[in-house]
Amino acid sequence: MREIIARTRTFRRFFQNEAVSIETLHELVDLGRLGGSARNGQPWQYMIINTPELCDKVFPFLGWAGYLSDWKGPEEGERPSAYILCMLNTNWLKGPETEAQFDLGVATQNMLLGAMEARIGGCRIGMFNPKLSELFHLPDHLQISLVVALGRPRETVLLEECRTDSDIKYWRDDEGAHHVPKRSLESCLITLEAR
Ligand SMILES: Cc1cc2nc3c(=O)[nH]c(=O)nc-3n(C[C@H](O)[C@H](O)[C@H](O)COP(=O)(O)O)c2cc1C
Repeated sequence: MREIIARTRTFRRFFQNEAVSIETLHELVDLGRLGGSARNGQPWQYMIINTPELCDKVFPFLGWAGYLSDWKGPEEGERPSAYILCMLNTNWLKGPETEAQFDLGVATQNMLLGAMEARIGGCRIGMFNPKLSELFHLPDHLQISLVVALGRPRETVLLEECRTDSDIKYWRDDEGAHHVPKRSLESCLITLEAR
């Protein structure tokens, strides 16, 4: 478990010509739908995009790696070969939307873990242009909340420990490896006196 969790990193460069099969994509949504859900409301629906034509249409709406200011996102040839659009079905909402967003975190982590097991990597994208919705004839009760980009990874991602509290920005070295600082276990643990 630890090994697969550690390997399940965010990947942003892929072998664009290698398709992700519809069977794999269905399996990932299936893993997502098994996740925990506040009030068991399960208010999410998922649209699979896996044709090069539709991938080309979705790509321009996506925002990539805000901390890598001189990188505008993956080049042609290294773009994702599939996407899962995560849509909130407001007809199925049972509580506040914040609860639903927690559910989506759980669901997409299941998807990315399952993807990694199949040697597929991904990136959750919350920073997308809301006009993405206009690409599709979305009924009023569906709202795109997150895009999961997927493909066979074409980059090395390395975990490291944050050196200071504010050292959380991921960065890329001269060889192109992507480094992700994580807070240490010690700094994540907190003990407070009970009154
Ligand atoms: C809810 C959520 C939204 C995210 N949105 C974006 C995004 O819009 N663009 C992007 O390049 N990465 C996005 N990421 C990826 C994070 O930048 C990434 O998880 C973080 O750098 C840590 O790397 P790791 O996933 O390998 O641990 C998002 C991640 C999460 C969980």
